[in-house]
Amino acid sequence: MAEENQRKASETEKQVDFGYRAVPESEKEEDVKEVFESVAKRYDLMNDVLSLGLHRLWKSTCVSLSGAAEGQKVLDIASGTCDMAIRFGEAVGKSGEVWATDINHEMIKEGVKRLKAVGCKAHVAICDCEALPFEDNFFDIAVVSFGLRNMTHKDRALKEMMRVVRPGGRVVVLEFSRCWKIFKPFYDLYSFKLMPWLGQKIAGDAESYRYLAESIRMHPDQQTLAKIMEDVGLDRVTWKNMTFGVCALHIGLKP
Ligand SMILES: C[S@@+](CC[C@H](N)C(=O)[O-])C[C@H]1O[C@@H](n2cnc3c(N)ncnc32)[C@H](O)[C@@H]1O
Repeated sequence: MAEENQRKASETEKQVDFGYRAVPESEKEEDVKEVFESVAKRYDLMNDVLSLGLHRLWKSTCVSLSGAAEGQKVLDIASGTCDMAIRFGEAVGKSGEVWATDINHEMIKEGVKRLKAVGCKAHVAICDCEALPFEDNFFDIAVVSFGLRNMTHKDRALKEMMRVVRPGGRVVVLEFSRCWKIFKPFYDLYSFKLMPWLGQKIAGDAESYRYLAESIRMHPDQQTLAKIMEDVGLDRVTWKNMTFGVCALHIGLKP
């Protein structure tokens, strides 16, 4: 009976995308969690292999265009293995403050190892981006790098990021985006054939890398994401394409 009720409830519940699959809204977070628990240990290696090292360039461009300066406070959302937290730690220096946050214990566990290895003093917190445990107007910058497309409610996540940033502060989104049409056939072949194959060979998990390819296609394109950012109240939203639009950096100001 309980199972039957649960089945009926999930049939009537709003559906959201999990890659190309529609799943009940309440289940997406758990599905995303499974993906990142599965890939956590090989996440950094896979990033280097799959992007041919390009993610390093995208991330360093993101830090320099974010305008992060000595002494500032930065919140890294969906920090995962803390790559961005480390980079922002260097940008804000010892007088600054960086918080690395993620919903997933396995990812952040790998991140803490990396923070220690490089001597980065970032604070760490496990939390859902859609309900951040920080006071209003606390940070100069809130950044999310390759995390937004996994969020169940992107608008809620962006609203929370804006809430914790001071007026005049920046919400920064680095994410896969819509690549140039001419590049698309090659990119599709690479994403749907080679990526899952490499995922299987290196991380023993083809399915998570299939989800990666699908979730990129389901993520809003450059213009749509800019509109979502404006709709939550961000001002002067701009974006910059990187590597033929494979990835884009959006920045909005809190009024
Ligand atoms: C692709 S990884 C990105 C990691 C890192 N930012 C980077 O650029 O390499 C996506 C991360 O988003 C996290 N995530 C997904 N949903 C989240 C949520 N609602 N709140 C916080 N983090 C979330 C996952 O746990 C995962 O660590």
